[in-house]
Amino acid sequence: MITKQPKQQGSLLGDQASSVPVECLGLRFDNDAARRTHFLGLLREKLKDAEFRAIPGFPIGTDEDILRLSDPPFYTACPNPFLEDFVRYYGKQYDSSERYSREPFAADVSEGKTDPLYMAHSYHTKVPHKAIMRYILHYTEPGDIVLDGFCGTGMTGVAAQLCGNRAEIAALGYRVGDDGVICHDTQDVAGKSILLPISRIGYRHAILNDLSPAATFIASNYNTRFDATSFQNHARRILDELEAELGWMYKTLHTDGKSTGRINYTVWSDVFSCSECLKEIVFVHEALDEKTGSIRETFPCPHCGVTSSKDALKLLYESSLGACRR
Ligand SMILES: C[S@@+](CC[C@H](N)C(=O)[O-])C[C@H]1O[C@@H](n2cnc3c(N)ncnc32)[C@H](O)[C@@H]1O
Repeated sequence: MITKQPKQQGSLLGDQASSVPVECLGLRFDNDAARRTHFLGLLREKLKDAEFRAIPGFPIGTDEDILRLSDPPFYTACPNPFLEDFVRYYGKQYDSSERYSREPFAADVSEGKTDPLYMAHSYHTKVPHKAIMRYILHYTEPGDIVLDGFCGTGMTGVAAQLCGNRAEIAALGYRVGDDGVICHDTQDVAGKSILLPISRIGYRHAILNDLSPAATFIASNYNTRFDATSFQNHARRILDELEAELGWMYKTLHTDGKSTGRINYTVWSDVFSCSECLKEIVFVHEALDEKTGSIRETFPCPHCGVTSSKDALKLLYESSLGACRR
């Protein structure tokens, strides 16, 4: 997927899309729906190309499945045929006379994993976007294209977009001047406080790719426009439908036998057999000290009164997963 300067677009990072005219890859459209229709048409044609579909790793899915998931040119649930246009439009021709030099970035980039953006969708080996922002700010200039070929949930795209966000940069501990220059507050060799310029504020474009269609789908939702109100309405509708259909499973009769209550959680307990009288001992009932929340080492059997410990008792029920025989 590819990201572009969010002028009127909404995402987890900004406001929602509107119906005003939009520009995309140099083309103008009356509104975003027209942009989408135009590029979906191009993608539909491209999907008929056998050579395109023969790209190794091309997702298994019908044209309609791929089109339904895609929002071209930003996101396609298959190799993105608009990449070349994107790079041509936003990229800069290599110019050998333009000096590019950066010291290797060596700094502590450890970040917590509790940022609401980070937690919006889980993924194994997910990287906090704030850590990535430091690298992008160090190595790139506003408007540059950043490629993440193994993007997972697209946190590199989130980071690239937030390099244009003053508050997010300040949250990293940097100072952003009125001229857009980002400075690191540090000390010189003599221990004197200095502001070291390290970058400039400004959105970077991101190209995000992953072998996993699920990952790119999450990445696209992290990085491109969506209508937050509509999302909320749909989510509410789905929750209401689930409540109506399955809510009964989460209800129980109160001890008065008449009124119902919602089950917030269920506590399971081992059930043992008393070694003396062979009757049932519900472990939680007998061993748990509700006042202290601790488990007693020894406890009496509620039926015969003989003191016992968990290790000395035999489990009464055991469940195991296995093949079912008829
Ligand atoms: C370490 S995870 C990236 C997580 C990402 N940084 C994030 O914050 O969500 C590595 C990703 O590489 C992808 N991957 C592995 N082999 C790949 C390949 N040959 N081409 C593209 N992606 C690949 C995996 O699907 C996985 O999502």
